[in-house]
Amino acid sequence: MQDSKPLHRLIYTSRANNPIDTATILTQARRNNAELGITGGLALLDGTFIQYLEGSEGAVNDIFSRICRDPRHRDVRVLEQRAVSQRMFGDWSMTFLAWTDRTKLIFRSFSPGLGLDLYETDPMTAAPLFRAWAATEDWKPLAP
Ligand SMILES: Cc1cc2nc3c(=O)[nH]c(=O)nc-3n(C[C@H](O)[C@H](O)[C@H](O)COP(=O)(O)O)c2cc1C
Repeated sequence: MQDSKPLHRLIYTSRANNPIDTATILTQARRNNAELGITGGLALLDGTFIQYLEGSEGAVNDIFSRICRDPRHRDVRVLEQRAVSQRMFGDWSMTFLAWTDRTKLIFRSFSPGLGLDLYETDPMTAAPLFRAWAATEDWKPLAP
């Protein structure tokens, strides 16, 4: 994706409300994000989401304020929000993490002692965590 405006990223975690319908969330995300020039990745494990959004600051804030109002989750906790020089997920309007031995090992290596509790992700390691995940092929770019 080509960018004319400065880039911004936002990473947050939240707790899912039941029932969790990731197919619908991803369909909405891909449609809106493509229109707004947002790219990113989403993971869900044991009822906890962690999401990485990147794009212009205005677009990221717009999408994030919609996401915060969404009744399908709660307890939204921002882990990191800052200007960045380049995209991590340039090819994907919103990709979905596949849990494999590798992606679990990566999470554990950044968050030792947390088991697989995404909600407790350290804000300092949130971006490096996504960078390590992004370098794997363990993503579901199409329907989950
Ligand atoms: C965990 C989670 C992640 C979401 N991610 C996105 C996203 O990246 N982009 C997006 O447009 N909507 C996302 N949504 C959905 C928005 O909250 C909202 O429902 C949607 O943007 C409304 O789109 P619509 O007005 O086109 O129906 C997400 C929702 C949840 C619960």
